[in-house]
Amino acid sequence: MSHLNLRWDDAEVRAAFPSLALTDDGVPRIYMDAPGGTQVASRVLERMREAMVEHCANEGGAFRTSRLTDQALQAAHAAAAEFLGAGADEVVFGLNTTSLLFHFSRMLARDWRAGDEIVVTRMDHDSNVAPWLIAAEERGVSVRWLDVNPASYQYRYDMLPQLIGPRTRLVACNHASNLLGTINDVARIVAAGRAVGAVTMVDAVQSAPHLPLDVEAIGCDLLATSSYKYFGPHAGLLYVRRALADRLAPLKVRPCVASMPHKHAPGTPSFEAQLGTVGALEHLAWLGERFAGVSAGASLRRRIAGGLAAAAAHEHSLATHFLEGVRELPAIRLYGNADPSEVARRVPTFSLRIGNLEPARVAEVFAARNISVWDGSFYAYEIAGVLGLRDNGGVVRVGFAHYNTLAEVDTVLAVLRELSRAA
Ligand SMILES: Cc1ncc(COP(=O)(O)O)c(C=O)c1O
Repeated sequence: MSHLNLRWDDAEVRAAFPSLALTDDGVPRIYMDAPGGTQVASRVLERMREAMVEHCANEGGAFRTSRLTDQALQAAHAAAAEFLGAGADEVVFGLNTTSLLFHFSRMLARDWRAGDEIVVTRMDHDSNVAPWLIAAEERGVSVRWLDVNPASYQYRYDMLPQLIGPRTRLVACNHASNLLGTINDVARIVAAGRAVGAVTMVDAVQSAPHLPLDVEAIGCDLLATSSYKYFGPHAGLLYVRRALADRLAPLKVRPCVASMPHKHAPGTPSFEAQLGTVGALEHLAWLGERFAGVSAGASLRRRIAGGLAAAAAHEHSLATHFLEGVRELPAIRLYGNADPSEVARRVPTFSLRIGNLEPARVAEVFAARNISVWDGSFYAYEIAGVLGLRDNGGVVRVGFAHYNTLAEVDTVLAVLRELSRAA
């Protein structure tokens, strides 16, 4: 896909993010914390300003600003639907992924009976595990676990036939891991769940900034993303398959209309976050026009797909360079696929430890150079347990977004080299 990036222009891309120009005491900021939350594109700020200045009113009124809010919300659901390959009536905005999953788990679990089973994984962020565990406990439902092969950092797909059966009510898995970076074959897991009539849920929070999403190709009933991981504001976005949305008895206040999205999105939503999410999608579409040659007249979905392809090609070159550099540093242990020729099989999220150095101490060394990296285990609670990383400070996580540059990756490698010598 390298042809896509013949015209990639770091300066032009970075100019689309106001925060990238900031310095502290003259030292530039290097943001390597994208898996925890990305920087925000200018278009997002413009859209949020529009929501809060040009039509700051609640929805459903007779007056002009309220009508404009109604139109904006419709446009936000339509844009989100294009992003996911869904219908506009299959999209629910919420505060974040975690709260959406707690909300939906409560509705879904009403049908569960003692003796039923659910399948969750040892790779997910706990927001796609704990809500289901709590609901299962309340309903007397057994929990079955899809394991991870600790050598390949892949799911144990071979377990699916024995895990999923006629009593399985839910199968929940993740598209990409926030600790390992592995991209998973979610269509395969979902197909196994669908075959027995289970509800299938895919956490796409970590894939959304890097891969085009297609809920029909995946085949899932639910799929979650969080806008703040893909250059937007703090908001969660949940795809709910129409048949499931219709069948679930909503947890709603009595006067609330019984149609989507209102019935499954209780209370007044953040209008500005919905519009901000549109801005984030417009940013991706702009990348598609500018760097993948997609025509401005093409659908938003096609432009976003082009933008993500161009971003991924750039990220692959950063990731290859990073892994080649890390390969030279034997003190570093990387938790995830470390093969520089296989970067297309992972997202650019790299978890590592350097000898016996405490991850928190390493993060402080980076922070002293104005470089943001995370340490810990990022609520990837199960996999951190499997890999012995839960109670010993976890890992240092370096993550790239398309606004990062090769020069920044080199700066990170230089710090890692220094720390490796000290380890
Ligand atoms: C894979 C994954 N799932 C879910 C979440 C939780 O998302 P939110 O903060 O929107 O609840 C995160 C946040 O880091 C994540 O990385």
